[in-house]
Amino acid sequence: MTHPRRRPALLRREAVVATVPVAVAALLTAAGPATAAGSVGAPGVGDPYFPLAGNGGYHVSHYGLTLGYEPSSRHLTGKAVLTARATQRLTRFDLDFKGLKITGLTVDHVKAGYKRDGQELAVTPARPLRKGQTFRVTVAYNGTPGPVTDPDGSLDGWIPTDDGAFVAGEPQGAMTWFPANNHPLDKSSYDFTITVPEDRTAVANGVLLGQRTKNGRTTFRWRQTEPMAAYLATATVGKFQVRQYTTRDGLKVYDAVDPREASAATPVLERLPSVLEWESRLFGPYPFRAAGSIVDRAPNVGYALETQTRPVYDRAPDLSTLVHESAHQWFGDSVSLTSWKDIWLNEGFATYAEWLYAEQHGGDSAQQTFDGLYATPADDGLWEFPPGDPGSGANIFGTPVYARGAMTLHVLRTAVGDRAFFRILRAWATAHRHGNGTTAQFERLAERESGHDLGALFQTWLYGQGKPGEPSPS
Ligand code: ARG
Ligand code: ZN
Repeated sequence: MTHPRRRPALLRREAVVATVPVAVAALLTAAGPATAAGSVGAPGVGDPYFPLAGNGGYHVSHYGLTLGYEPSSRHLTGKAVLTARATQRLTRFDLDFKGLKITGLTVDHVKAGYKRDGQELAVTPARPLRKGQTFRVTVAYNGTPGPVTDPDGSLDGWIPTDDGAFVAGEPQGAMTWFPANNHPLDKSSYDFTITVPEDRTAVANGVLLGQRTKNGRTTFRWRQTEPMAAYLATATVGKFQVRQYTTRDGLKVYDAVDPREASAATPVLERLPSVLEWESRLFGPYPFRAAGSIVDRAPNVGYALETQTRPVYDRAPDLSTLVHESAHQWFGDSVSLTSWKDIWLNEGFATYAEWLYAEQHGGDSAQQTFDGLYATPADDGLWEFPPGDPGSGANIFGTPVYARGAMTLHVLRTAVGDRAFFRILRAWATAHRHGNGTTAQFERLAERESGHDLGALFQTWLYGQGKPGEPSPS
């Protein structure tokens, strides 16, 4: 193949990608980091592309989400119990929560004041929280959830389907179905209790603790123990064929497949254990205790997402897409972003995993894939912006992030040699396991592990305008 496989959506999405005008982009950058004075928690964590994403002043250690969904009316009932710790004195703090109606809100079981403004839910506890205090926020809510439209025109969040809902939150949509500290910097454990009509299945992250049917409704209890960013949470609902098994390595696998996608999906999903074994040899131990796939039929979505432990696919995936979403379990899910600007750390790595998989399974070598891409003319969209500096939230899922991001890793591999390169990948996955990382940290780690000065390489491939090695078209 001369072109890498891309998510089908990526190709379709390119048609609707509108670059945010430079002036608007500058404004957005100037607005962040969002700060607030004194003992009021900031409305954002300071992400330059999504200034209101996440919040300041506290960390959430656990989300307990109790949901009920009625596909026929699309009505959702929810109760979220957040266990959090104040990192400063707080007279007020924000949550990210968009749309649904709030019917009750307490902090440590005492009624709290609140005010809503767009995605910001400002909570005023009856008594200020001390720095270091652990507190519990309970929010009861209901309504008809829907997706958000991202800067690139794509949908994410709670996306209704003909038999349930496709639930995927990258980068912003978690707040459409639960109140959250909605930024990958804040990672938490999760419990989900989801009740749906008995002919439907509700699939979330982690391990299925149990399911029970009563009065025509089934309640599924899921537990995600390892830390997870809010955007990687799912509660996908539909009519699914379910298959459960344990791998040789003791991983609990749960597959849920829309029957209309089953014949195409089954042969691909069967490869999951061998793909995860192959990736574990390359990247180090698989970071979670559970695995699996959710294959839905969601024609208006156009992408798959690496929802933690159990990627969600909008249709039957091909093997390359399965490899991609599986690689994200290491790069993106276990090692999370610190800023959305660094998105190539997710997409460049997952794309390069596809190239490596092809190379080691009788397909094109990574060098051939690289060469095919490098032959793309300098005025192609591939060279439109540098992957390490996409410029705005509208570009984070653009081709340069995926393809030129992967090319950057290939150039690195060529420069340092295979032994050092694979040591770098494993060291990155190990050093930031269940945490966060930045591009600058990756650059330093690569230099440390290889003993090479890589400043010029990263400058050219991650940050240089236009096609590396050629003058940029004007
Ligand atoms: N991370 C997904 C992937 O692996 C893409 C998610 C795209 N999300 C969106 N809202 N467009 O390719
Ligand atoms: Zn990806």
